[in-house]
Amino acid sequence: MNILLLGSGGREHALAWKMLQSPLCDTLFVAPGNAGTAGIATNLAINPVDFEAVKTAVLTNNVQLVVVGPEDPLVKGVYDFFKNDEQLAHVPVIGPSQYGAQLEGSKEFAKKFLIKHNIPTAAYDSFTKETVEEGCKFLETLKAPYVLKADGLAAGKGVLILNDLEEAKQELRNMLVDAKFGDASAKVVIEEFLDGIELSVFVLTDGINYKLLPTAKDYKRIGEGDTGLNTGGMGAVSPVPFADAEFMEKIETRIVKPTVNGIKADNIDYKGFVFIGLIKVGNDPFVIEYNVRMGDPETEVVIPRLKSDLVEIFLAMSQQKLNEVAFEIDERSATTVMMVSGGYPEDYEKGKVITGLDAVEGSLVFHAGTTLKDGEVVTAGGRVLAVTSYDNDFKEAIKKSYQNIDKLHFDKMYYRKDIGFDL
Ligand code: AMP
Ligand code: GLY
Repeated sequence: MNILLLGSGGREHALAWKMLQSPLCDTLFVAPGNAGTAGIATNLAINPVDFEAVKTAVLTNNVQLVVVGPEDPLVKGVYDFFKNDEQLAHVPVIGPSQYGAQLEGSKEFAKKFLIKHNIPTAAYDSFTKETVEEGCKFLETLKAPYVLKADGLAAGKGVLILNDLEEAKQELRNMLVDAKFGDASAKVVIEEFLDGIELSVFVLTDGINYKLLPTAKDYKRIGEGDTGLNTGGMGAVSPVPFADAEFMEKIETRIVKPTVNGIKADNIDYKGFVFIGLIKVGNDPFVIEYNVRMGDPETEVVIPRLKSDLVEIFLAMSQQKLNEVAFEIDERSATTVMMVSGGYPEDYEKGKVITGLDAVEGSLVFHAGTTLKDGEVVTAGGRVLAVTSYDNDFKEAIKKSYQNIDKLHFDKMYYRKDIGFDL
């Protein structure tokens, strides 16, 4: 069958690489893709949120399955667009409905879902412009640090953690009254601060059944030792060594099962990934966020560990038969290190020629911000390449990634040399 994958990052290159291993996949299209996906699939110059253009591509290329990488098209309703279109209704879309995508698109929706289904999460309340003074009073009842979250999508920048009460009140006003994050902060969730170590679990669901993908931990800060500005993610490790069988059992019983049962009980049309951001407080897991897609760079370590046929799994999900499909995980660890453009996550230059790609041995290189120019692979984004390696020992895997990074080059490249330092 012909498959269309929406997106253009390292996540999409990893998903494309995996789907192409399936005998069920004839032609894979990626919209818009990058230089990495161009090397293995057919890129289409289409913006994934331009649904009419996506429709044309699906009809022209006889696409029989659509897989959505990023959250934007999901939050904007690509699933429903297909379901409600006579010509597209028969084409399964991997992802939740627009209603379900609010689990990521609205922090308040997610908190209400968590509380309703008795899933452990930080205590919270939410406020608008009209109730800003009540929000300030609520802050006074909490202990520092204070956690403020813009309700809507804010490109990963909508969460503020502040140590000072007066500063927290000021930021609350900035968000609600001065629209610091535009419409995204028209509503703000204020949360109790949870102190612990973070990890993520990834779940595939068809709305009834679920399969647990491997855990992963990403490294969000630009600087070594988890310092400096937040990024999309500078590296990742899977599995997370501290998530032992006993802790995983708690995650599955207290969080994963109630989440999938909640999706079913609330009649949410959901055939896709659920990315659950967790924090381990003492020995107990709490949910800090849901995403309705895979993580990036977490995909670059999670998907390489899936041994089974991902296309077969997606098709089973579309028929709500996820329980009937083979689902095997590689026991080895996988690690990835992100190579980024100098200056990222602030201003950086693009168009730098990347060399050494052919010299890489024993690692997988997933392209993120790359493009082809005059026959050469050049940088086209902040995060450029994810170098993934396997080993029984995650520390050895990380070493392999660094050995291969030594062979890769582009002007002003940067990467963290301490991925996995805290594990
Ligand atoms: P979110 O977008 O909700 O995942 O928040 C971004 C980051 O803020 C998370 O990855 C955590 O590091 C941190 N964070 C969010 N909520 C909390 C909380 N209640 N307590 C402590 N840290 C938090
Ligand atoms: N790496 C975090 C994310 O994809 O949201």
